[in-house]
Amino acid sequence: MSANIIDGKAFALALRERIAVQVSDFVSAAGRKPGLAVVLVGEDPASAVYVRSKGKATVAAGMASFEHRLPADVSQDDLLALVDTLNADPAVDGILVQLPLPGHLDELAVTTRIDPDKDVDGFHPVNAGRLATGLEGFVPCTPLGCVMLLKDQLGDLTGLDAVVIGRSNIVGKPMAQLLLKESCTVTIAHSRTRDLSSVVKRADIVVAAVGRPEMVKGEWIKPGATVIDVGINRTATGLVGDVDFGGAASVAGAITPVPGGVGPMTIAVLLRNTLVSAARRDGVAIDEAAL
Ligand code: GUN
Repeated sequence: MSANIIDGKAFALALRERIAVQVSDFVSAAGRKPGLAVVLVGEDPASAVYVRSKGKATVAAGMASFEHRLPADVSQDDLLALVDTLNADPAVDGILVQLPLPGHLDELAVTTRIDPDKDVDGFHPVNAGRLATGLEGFVPCTPLGCVMLLKDQLGDLTGLDAVVIGRSNIVGKPMAQLLLKESCTVTIAHSRTRDLSSVVKRADIVVAAVGRPEMVKGEWIKPGATVIDVGINRTATGLVGDVDFGGAASVAGAITPVPGGVGPMTIAVLLRNTLVSAARRDGVAIDEAAL
C-alpha cells in the first residue's frame, strides 16, 4: 500500500483564494482593508524570509501589511511600546511578533502585551484559555491548519484515536485541544513518553511536532493511519520532517510531505485569522465556515 500524499500547498492556495474573496466583501462593507502588523526583531535569516512571505501573502489577499523591523539590540521597553502603539491603531486587526526573539527579550512578556483580540497567532494566554474552555478567540495557525487538512482528508474525526507528539504551547497543546474539540480520543506524547512506538502504533491520527529529524519510523505507524508532519528540520541532506517519510508513506493511509504539507497552511491560516479579527472588530458578518 502506498499513502495518499496530502497536498498542503494546493489546499493553502485554495484557502487563500477563498479568503481573498471574503476580504473583498469585507472591504465593500467596512470601507477599509483588514490590516496585519508583523514585527521582526534582528536579522535572523529564516525569520526574515518568513516575515517577507507573510507580507507578500497579506497584500496578495487584498489586506494591508505593516512591517516593523527593529534592531537586534532593541530594549524590552521599546518593543513593548511598539506593541502598545499597534494595539491602539484602528487600522491594525492582527499583530504578530516573529519568534524567536533575541535572548535578552522576554517572549512571554511581549506575547502577553498584545491585545488578545488582535492576537492572530493565538499565543496569548487568554487565547490559550479560550481554546481550552471552548470560548471564541484565536487559535494558533499551524495546528488549525493541521485540523483543516485532517478534516479534508477524513471528514468527521469523531472517535478516532489521535496521538500528538510534542507538547509546545504553539503546536502540541493547541493541537490536542482542537482534536479533543473534534471528539477524538487524544494522547499527548513527548520526549519523556515511555515506549513511544507502541503509543503511536494505536493511533488513527499521528501529529508529529517534536523537531527531531525523521524520529517517527514507518514501523510505528498503524496501517492506514493519517500522518501529519509538522517538523521542518534542516539537515545535511536537505529539509526533512519529524517523520521518516519513505517508511511511513508505505504504511500510512495518508501523509503530509515536507516541504509542501503543513508549512504552507500556517500563512494561509494567519490570513484567515486576520480577516476574522477585522470582521469581529467592525461587526461585519463573514462566512467563517467557508474559510
Ligand atoms: N516563528 C515561527 N513560526 C512562527 C509563527 O507562526 N508565529 C510567530 N509569531 N513566530 C513564528
